[in-house]
Amino acid sequence: MQQTLSIIKPDAIEKNVIGKILARFEENGLKIIAAKMLHLTEEKAKKFYMVHKEKPFYMDLVKFMTSGPVLVLALQGKEAVKKCREIMGATNFKDAKEGTIRKDFASSIERNAVHGSDSLENAKIEVSFFFNNNEIFPR
Ligand code: CMP
Repeated sequence: MQQTLSIIKPDAIEKNVIGKILARFEENGLKIIAAKMLHLTEEKAKKFYMVHKEKPFYMDLVKFMTSGPVLVLALQGKEAVKKCREIMGATNFKDAKEGTIRKDFASSIERNAVHGSDSLENAKIEVSFFFNNNEIFPR
């Protein structure tokens, strides 16, 4: 069993599709073991996306991620990191397969509805970035 981090981004919250996105994870075998709605501060968003700080889209990404509330999730399941990324679809929604979250709900490469950890190592870092141990309910 693995745990991974997902974020339902401000664009998806604005579209009122939180429930639909949660259902995609559950219907595909992942369990929601932690959830928190919050409005990221600029400092926290910058820190979370630090790996992209040299990219030309970094400041726009931070602006977007702080433009409204997000729902942060820890997901558990067999091969959860890979499975979550399959359910989300490609970062660029134009490349995302039919039936994926990004194909159905993203509106640009930046406003791509969801985030998911890209490796098991990063999943551990990202889950603990948002959740204390007593806020996670593995089962
Ligand atoms: P995410 O999976 O959260 O990881 C980094 C985010 O940066 C990505 O989703 C997109 O929201 C954004 N992103 C990635 N590539 C680009 C790009 N070329 N232009 C703008 N935003 C991007």
